[in-house]
Amino acid sequence: MSRVAFVNGRYLPWKEAKVSFEDRGYQFADGVYEVCEVRDGCIVDLPRHLGRLRRSLSELRIAMPMSEAALGVILREVRRRNHVDYGIVYLQITRGVARRDHAFPPPGVRQSLVVSARKLNFERNQATAARGIAVITVPETRWARVDIKAVSLLPNVLARQTARERGAYEAWFVDDEGFVTEGAASNAWIVTGDGRVVTHPTGHGILTGITRQVLIEVIASLQLALEERPFTVAEALAAREAFVTAASQIVMPVIAIDAKPIGDGKPGPIARRLREAFHRFSAFSC
Ligand code: PDD
Repeated sequence: MSRVAFVNGRYLPWKEAKVSFEDRGYQFADGVYEVCEVRDGCIVDLPRHLGRLRRSLSELRIAMPMSEAALGVILREVRRRNHVDYGIVYLQITRGVARRDHAFPPPGVRQSLVVSARKLNFERNQATAARGIAVITVPETRWARVDIKAVSLLPNVLARQTARERGAYEAWFVDDEGFVTEGAASNAWIVTGDGRVVTHPTGHGILTGITRQVLIEVIASLQLALEERPFTVAEALAAREAFVTAASQIVMPVIAIDAKPIGDGKPGPIARRLREAFHRFSAFSC
């Protein structure tokens, strides 16, 4: 089956879906992105993703290339043309193509917009969640504005690679004060011995995950206690449960941190409940 991507106004076969080497995304990582889950052929929490996209662009002083409604139409169309029932849609907007110069290009240079879609293996994802994942910790080396979902992900790339080399799936960044900020591509959570769910507060130090936002509503409706406060690696190691959240994984239980088991070394009941309940609280754009 031929895959299709949207590139600057056209739906193109995968092989023809290209941007210039002078694209500022390629030259400077001068752009932003979004990843949305696709479930049952629908895009999950699309309005929230588009809201975060608008904010990321505005923080970088890149104009929205079109309305949120028009972007939503393209995302749904790319999903449809690629026959993705379960998987992700990916959207990237950069400051456009211009002669290499660090400062912004002259007025009139149009943003580049690329949208693609990819199937994920639902059974494999469920099996991973049933087993749980291992995480490692790495020093926080990222810039001070990781709340912007920018494509400049070098520390995240290196952290994930280190995780893989150590037989783990995710890496948690730990700041200078010893607090876990978030994962290389997910938000980090723990459940304390007395059942409180803890995650780092929003601000410039983490990406405000859309899964995180929705999960906070799930937590409230299940009448669990939530604390948005930093936690240390030591507290995580002593926690009853740990998990990560991201659009492509929803709630993914963590069973080991730096090769030390969390709780009984198996996915915990709260993470499992939150994972099961999650999609009752999401918006589906079909
Ligand atoms: N990652 N923190 C970071 C650094 C992330 O890259 C992500 C998502 C999240 C979770 O955000 P959300 O719940 O909106 O997916 C937190 C995406 C999936 C990625 O880069 O592939």
